[in-house]
Amino acid sequence: MKITKICCIGAGYVGGPTMAVIAKKNPNIKVTIVDINEERIAAWNDKDVSKLPIYEPGLAEIVEETRGKNLFFSTDIDETIRESEMIFISVNTPTKTYGKGKGMAADLKYVELCARNIAEVATTDKIVVEKSTLPVRTAQAIKSILHNTGNDVKFEILSNPEFLAEGTAIQDLLNPDRVLIGGESEDAIESLANVYGSWVPQDRILRTNVWSSELSKLTANAFLAQRISSINAISELCEHTEANVNEVAKAIGMDSRIGPKFLNASIGFGGSCFQKDILNLVYIARSYGLNAVADYWEQVIILNDHQKRRFSDHLISTLYNTVSGKKIAMLGWAFKKDTNDTRESAAIYVADHLLNEQAHIAVYDPKVNSKKVQGDLNYLNTRSAEENNELVTSFDEPYETAKDAHAIAIMTEWDEFKTYDWQKIYDNMKKPAFIFDGRNILNKTEMETIGFEYSSIGK
Ligand code: NAD
Ligand code: UGA
Repeated sequence: MKITKICCIGAGYVGGPTMAVIAKKNPNIKVTIVDINEERIAAWNDKDVSKLPIYEPGLAEIVEETRGKNLFFSTDIDETIRESEMIFISVNTPTKTYGKGKGMAADLKYVELCARNIAEVATTDKIVVEKSTLPVRTAQAIKSILHNTGNDVKFEILSNPEFLAEGTAIQDLLNPDRVLIGGESEDAIESLANVYGSWVPQDRILRTNVWSSELSKLTANAFLAQRISSINAISELCEHTEANVNEVAKAIGMDSRIGPKFLNASIGFGGSCFQKDILNLVYIARSYGLNAVADYWEQVIILNDHQKRRFSDHLISTLYNTVSGKKIAMLGWAFKKDTNDTRESAAIYVADHLLNEQAHIAVYDPKVNSKKVQGDLNYLNTRSAEENNELVTSFDEPYETAKDAHAIAIMTEWDEFKTYDWQKIYDNMKKPAFIFDGRNILNKTEMETIGFEYSSIGK
């Protein structure tokens, strides 16, 4: 099928950047991103591209170049579905918070609603592309919904999981390691391969069956997260043995079979997907009775929770076993640098733990505002919104954030943190002044020369 119009349902961290790049590289295809969230669509349409709902380096420039030409953002979901030959489903698939599989399985209600919406309004044949991360065998459910519409429309279903990482999404999309397309119909697969073919070399476009494609996405995230939990496990051992985790990471990473990437010890991985996708993998394995497999992967999450907890425990014990009434400055709230996304950020859990000990928390993040910080803490439901508001204050620059603080906790690896006047920060803090570097980004000797009591993960 020749593709002239694409619809993407879901204008989020995946839908937005992915479709912007598809539009840029395919000027002859009209790409429309639709969403039920009117506020989000309005923000995507904001003339001032600094107000786009997602911060991602390089994204604003592409949106500016393509928006209104062949890239559109709309809330008219039905009409966009009707006019498009290819429809991407790129909606959220969070962990279920209710019912069977609560806390483990992926909640597929948004995906199912999309499938029903497509089935209801489509009048011509469509290729439906799963872009969201879905449990293996979800395509079967989508197929069943689409094929029982009672009209004559023919649907082909493809799985095309996304591998971009936030903060580097545009580079990842422009130069992907691979694009994965799973499906039954060769014709449908080639239609999608042609869309990517405008900039991705054919040998990097992998064709598989639909089930392998769905499972590969969960497996890739599980392997990536497993590396972080592995190095984080070693970081704790380093702290007891005077080994240095950075040196260990470098030494093992030079083995070409292991490779150097994704070996940064940290306060623990965050983000909307690693935990959700591993929990889902564990749930699927258990549902087939594969308990040894499930237990194996579950350990990645257990270690990650342990890492977050031991970071805050260490901070509390270092501050003479009490942080009650003390000001702790948190630099960084996003789950990693170069994004405004805070979902599952380790900062939220460390802050929550410190708040249970009655600390006062001052937050500065270059891209996260006070409303989001408060929203993240309120979502945990540990204490009232009034209490969170009273105990947690956001600042728009680092020096006031750290003024009179007893300790600084580095939560995100933002580059600008390395460029601060740390002497000035030290001078205005309570003494002894502590830094807990959850990202290993500051120079220990420099910090100690200034006078800080400095500690970091795995050293
Ligand atoms: P997101 O929450 O940022 O965006 C999802 C959007 O879908 C929201 O704006 C929501 O309003 C919209 N939506 C939900 N139901 C809808 C419906 N019925 N009709 C229209 N719009 C609807 O989520 P995201 O981070 O973009 O993730 C989307 C999917 O991609 C998830 O399955 C995720 O696992 C996967 N993924 C995410 C990333 C990432 O880096 N965030 C990377 C790869 C894969
Ligand atoms: C991750 C994967 O890298 C993407 O391939 C995938 O598409 C995406 O999940 C998804 O499915 O959502 P993302 O979560 O955006 O991308 O960002 P990562 O760079 O993977 O970082 C995840 C977390 O791990 C961050 O909190 C980061 O700080 C942490 N991390 C990463 C470490 O602690 N150490 C490392 O060495 C690398």
